Parts: sequence; structure tokens; C-alpha cells
Amino acid sequence: MRRLRVGLCYDLAEKHQPRPGEPPDKAAELDSRETVEGLSQALASLGHEPLPLGDGRELLQFLQAGGRVDLVFNLSEGLTGRSREAQVPALLEMLEVPYTGADPLTLALCLDKAMFKRVLQAEGLPTPVFRTVEGPSAVEALDVPLPAFVKPLAEGSGKGIQADCRVESPEALRRVVRRVGETYGWPVLVEEYLPGAELTVGILGNGAARVLGSMQIEFLPGSGEIYSYRTKQDYLDLVRYHVPPQLPAETVQAAQEIALATYRLTGCRDFGRVDLRLDARGRPSVLEINPLAGLNPVSSDLVILARRRGMEYRDLIGEIVQAALDRHGNNGS
Ligand SMILES: Nc1ncnc2c1ncn2[C@@H]1O[C@H](COP(=O)(O)OP(=O)(O)OP(=O)(O)O)[C@@H](O)[C@H]1O
Ligand SMILES: [Mg+2]
Repeated sequence: MRRLRVGLCYDLAEKHQPRPGEPPDKAAELDSRETVEGLSQALASLGHEPLPLGDGRELLQFLQAGGRVDLVFNLSEGLTGRSREAQVPALLEMLEVPYTGADPLTLALCLDKAMFKRVLQAEGLPTPVFRTVEGPSAVEALDVPLPAFVKPLAEGSGKGIQADCRVESPEALRRVVRRVGETYGWPVLVEEYLPGAELTVGILGNGAARVLGSMQIEFLPGSGEIYSYRTKQDYLDLVRYHVPPQLPAETVQAAQEIALATYRLTGCRDFGRVDLRLDARGRPSVLEINPLAGLNPVSSDLVILARRRGMEYRDLIGEIVQAALDRHGNNGS
């Protein structure tokens, strides 16, 4: 494979730590130096030249100063607005710089969970029934079947997700909707609570995209049975991962088919991860898709899943790069 100059784009969590009064999980979606260094090492060991560029503004400065790369490996979550994940890809698309992962439309669609769920519903793919609460004045009149699950409309990495997001009483529903809205902004999403087992499905590639594997997240005492921000932080103590899932083979098969259909429908590219839970009747239902799934070399779900399937981090990154090159009609040779 030809040696490529690969620029890395990312938003460093350490630059955006919460100030007093801001939520402790403010920078949860952003990347650590460990991720940038791990990714750089993986790219170098694949024979490429990694070039850490920084965030969207730093990318812009680099390109305006005449800097050139063959490919951008995009990890950038963006900082402002519900289209924030689309910002770096939009810039790269405009300047015709090849990059890994989904395009702006897919990234913006999937970050807004209500928009994403409407698209799934239109195609008959299963996702918990939901409604949005537009603002504080809509909270008092809120009337939904209980238990329900309350979460921010457009966050990831467990941001805003706590054990109390599962609400059983009208009082708790109103209290948690207000907390989530005041902390993470309105509208707030309220969904049917899915009581069954949880699994995540990793997917790689494009036209012939394939399921890398499925991983069940078994909840241990203290997790509150929710893959919350805290559970994700303390994953070594609060969950156990099973690859393959300890679930009936036909359930896993159904989940994988639904996940692949979701990946294709939303136009994901190169890699992604679909989170599902089983409903009261044991049927898989889609919570969300992550077109920009985390790629921390140690702790990210897709990386853990790949490793349990026998694929080392370096090879996972190699597949993502190759999928992006293939899309651009460049086999890297
Ligand atoms: N409707 C629901 N019913 C039951 N549990 C839910 C529901 N929605 C979310 N959860 C729980 O909350 C967790 C986080 O939800 P979700 O995946 O939507 O958030 P996220 O912050 O985008 O996650 P990620 O870290 O994967 O980006 C889920 O993994 C699941 O444990
Ligand atoms: Mg999730």
C-alpha cells in the first residue's frame, strides 16, 4: 500500500473541561490524547504518515496555509449545534479532501435522535416510540405511558444519561425532563423504556458493508441497568461484555439485520455502531446509531468488540482507511 499522509482531526477533551456550574460530562464526547496517539501509532504501523491537525478551526488554518494530506481520519465531534459532527466533513467535502466516515447529512441526522427515529419509522425499522418535549412550558401537561426513558435529544457518550433517566412516576418524569432540558438544552426526548437485554452491533465497510460482530452489555449491580455516562466511565466494574451475546441465535441474527439495514438507510460509511435493546417481548429495537463511533484504543465499544472478534486495533483502523480509500476510487497502491 502506498504511504499516505493522513491528517487527524479531533476535538481534545482536555481543552474543553467543564467550568464551575457546567455539567461534569461536558467533554464526554471529545477525544483524549491517548486516542489521538493510539490512532497515530496505528496509522504509522500500517505504513502511513500520521499528521495530527487538531480541531475544525486548526484544520481550516492548515488547509488555507496550503497544507495538503491524502486523507483525513476524522474523529471530530464538533462543539456547537446539533449539526456539530457534520462541520469538519462539510469543510472537507467543500475542499474535496478525502476523509474517513460518514458525510455531513448522515452525521447531522444521526446526532438528532428524533430525526433519526422518524427516518427509521418511515422505513418500518423498530425503535422505541417517542415524543419530544419542546420546552419548560410543555412539561406540566406531559402525559406518556410509564415507565419511560428521558434523554438529551442530541448528545452521545452517555452525556446526560443517568440511572434516574428511567422514570416510573409522573413526578419523576417532569423532574428529569426539566433537569435534562435545563442542562443539555431543549427539546428533550422521552421514549418508551425497553426492559430487555442490551447489545451493540459493529459494522464495517460500504456497498458490501458487513457486521463485524455483536456485543451484549450485561449490567452488574451498581449500574442501574443503564449504560449511562457513569457506567461507561466505570465499565470495568459495572458491566460485563459478551461476544457473542448470550442471547438466542435468532435474536442476535434479527438485531444484526436491523443494524445493517439502519446503517444502510442512514448512509453510514466505513464504520459504525448500532445500539439496541430488547423490548418486553424479546424483540430488538434500535436506540441509536453512531456513525462516528468512539475509537479509543482501549475503552471504546467498537474497539473492544473488534478485539473480542480477533481484530487488533491497528487492523480495525486499517479496514476503516481502506474502506474510505475504496470509496474514493483509490486502492492505496
Ligand atoms: N428507550 C430506552 N430504554 C431503555 N434504556 C435506554 C433507552 N434509551 C437509552 N437507554 C439506555 O441509555 C444508554 C444510552 O443511550 P443512548 O445510546 O441513546 O445514548 P448515547 O449517549 O448516544 O450513547 P453512546 O455512548 O453510545 O453515544 C443506552 O445504552 C441504554 O442503556
Ligand atoms: Mg449509545
